[in-house]
Amino acid sequence: MNELGAQRLTGRVAFISGGLRGIGLACAERFLAEGAEVILSDLDAPDSDIASNVMDRLGHAASYIQANVTREEDWQRARDVVRDRHGALHILVNNAGTDLTGAVETLSMEGWRRIMDINVDGVFLGVKTFVPMMAESGKAVTGGASIINVSSIMGLVGYNEVSAYNASKGAVRMFTKGIAIEFAQKRMAIRANSLHPGFVVTPLLDAGFQRWVDSGFADKKQDLMDAVSGATPMGRLAEPAELAAGAFFLASADSAYMTGAELVMDGGWTAQ
Ligand SMILES: NC(=O)c1ccc[n+]([C@@H]2O[C@H](COP(=O)([O-])OP(=O)(O)OC[C@H]3O[C@@H](n4cnc5c(N)ncnc54)[C@H](O)[C@@H]3O)[C@@H](O)[C@H]2O)c1
Repeated sequence: MNELGAQRLTGRVAFISGGLRGIGLACAERFLAEGAEVILSDLDAPDSDIASNVMDRLGHAASYIQANVTREEDWQRARDVVRDRHGALHILVNNAGTDLTGAVETLSMEGWRRIMDINVDGVFLGVKTFVPMMAESGKAVTGGASIINVSSIMGLVGYNEVSAYNASKGAVRMFTKGIAIEFAQKRMAIRANSLHPGFVVTPLLDAGFQRWVDSGFADKKQDLMDAVSGATPMGRLAEPAELAAGAFFLASADSAYMTGAELVMDGGWTAQ
């Protein structure tokens, strides 16, 4: 809900991949507060502690589907559930993602394929599966249906020993532009934009910092936090809710004339 007390996503249905943690969970919380019905998906079993706790907390407008974004059959099952339960989909946040660090000559083919599978194939499959339903649903809402593909500042600029992640997030950025043009020129009621977070305090970032500590790159995680904060013009990391605010803007009718664009929320990192 915004400061005027209006719920801007009432009557809209949203699907968020990787929704049980971090940025995806913050998007779910924001969309629910704005009146949307939200379907979260993630790898965890529905009766796992994390899924049970999150779903209890989010309340009846939220539901959960266990799905691996790399498996087309999981996407198809998710689409069938969404159609049966809601009959429409207006907002798709392709948020599930993973990272991979290391000097390029040390990366395994298996690691490379895994990150492409999750970060790139996962986004492609989500879009491919839901586009027909979204094109129909989008006709009924101001601004049309909205696809939000979560890329990264690492999809815009390079970074030391992050080349595979750079490649995957760059692919998300360009795939988004490609589909945006396709939908716009066919006058389909779907917009598609990419969201580019800087460093955000989430379990993914924490695990990445831990790996750097384990590999001797730093003594402790706090040193890495301080270094990244120091290299960010605003002097701090982002909270997931700050990224969810951007996703909400892209989901809402306020971004009705925006497609194929990049929403960068990075505390000034890529402005340097
Ligand atoms: N945290 C950051 O600093 C940061 C910065 C830029 C971009 N991003 C991107 O934002 C997105 C969310 O990241 P986060 O930091 O919230 O991460 P996170 O690890 O906290 O949450 C990601 C979620 O995706 C799920 N997931 C992973 N692989 C999956 C799969 N194959 N199928 C379904 N779900 C899967 C995980 O279980 C997890 O719940 C990712 O795409 C990430 O690359 C994060």
